[in-house]
Amino acid sequence: MVAKILDGKAASVAWEAELAAKLGNMQAKPCIALVRVGEDPASVTYVKKKIEMCTRLGIVSQFVHLPQNTTQDELMARLEKLNTDPRIHAILVQVPLPDQIDAVAVQNAIAPLKDVDGFGPENMGLLLMGRPRLVAATPAGVMRLLKHYSLDVTGKNCVVVGRSNIVGKPLAQLLLNADATVTMAHSKTQNLAAVTKQADFLFSAVGKPGLITGAMVKKGAIVVDIGTSKNDEGKLAGDAQFESVKKRAAWLSPVPGGVGPMTIMSLMANTISAYELQNKRA
Ligand code: GUN
Repeated sequence: MVAKILDGKAASVAWEAELAAKLGNMQAKPCIALVRVGEDPASVTYVKKKIEMCTRLGIVSQFVHLPQNTTQDELMARLEKLNTDPRIHAILVQVPLPDQIDAVAVQNAIAPLKDVDGFGPENMGLLLMGRPRLVAATPAGVMRLLKHYSLDVTGKNCVVVGRSNIVGKPLAQLLLNADATVTMAHSKTQNLAAVTKQADFLFSAVGKPGLITGAMVKKGAIVVDIGTSKNDEGKLAGDAQFESVKKRAAWLSPVPGGVGPMTIMSLMANTISAYELQNKRA
């Protein structure tokens, strides 16, 4: 068996066309504030890509760049201004943040209807209750990628490796909401291979190149690689050993070109949703 490719670039192009049409019918343009504190190299790249995509789609973006030594109080004061500014519909604070900043407190401080990352307690809670509103971009993008290829998780064994607040946990909830049977595995899981081999759908969001080998994958499984780390050569790498997994899986998402392009489009979709939530007629 040779896996077919879950092509995130192609799926994101289709989604972009949908969003562009929606934006074309809107009376005003949504505006997102993208906050970066300091100079984390990955964050520099990601925020730049997000701004470029906003420009391409006609979403207004406001880049807020704060120095590395910004204090918690200074960041909170800036967020409060953005929260109360009616011209701003969406707020994203790129993580990781410098050590002196409490990231959870920051996520809690963003107005829930502007929380386009969906990391705050209100949006997380709604997702947990099966009433998703603004959902974290990467897991929402994964679900959209599956939908693009008409891959249905209903009743299937879905294994999520990684329990982060920004990917693993919200993804598990989205899968549960879609009627999958969900298992979460993580760094303390014993005999990871025995768990992953049960998966009809295997999602890996750990950030360890080569973690998932072909031998850990059930024949005919669907493998979604959500890992993003740098390998020994400094290149972007996923969690799956691409060549060996490709021989056993029915579908496989590559890194780069899989989940990544969906994540950015997901943020664009959330920005439009945030605008709509704030402009809903009572
Ligand atoms: N850093 C890595 N992924 C993300 C994300 O989805 N949102 C934010 N705010 N920061 C990130």
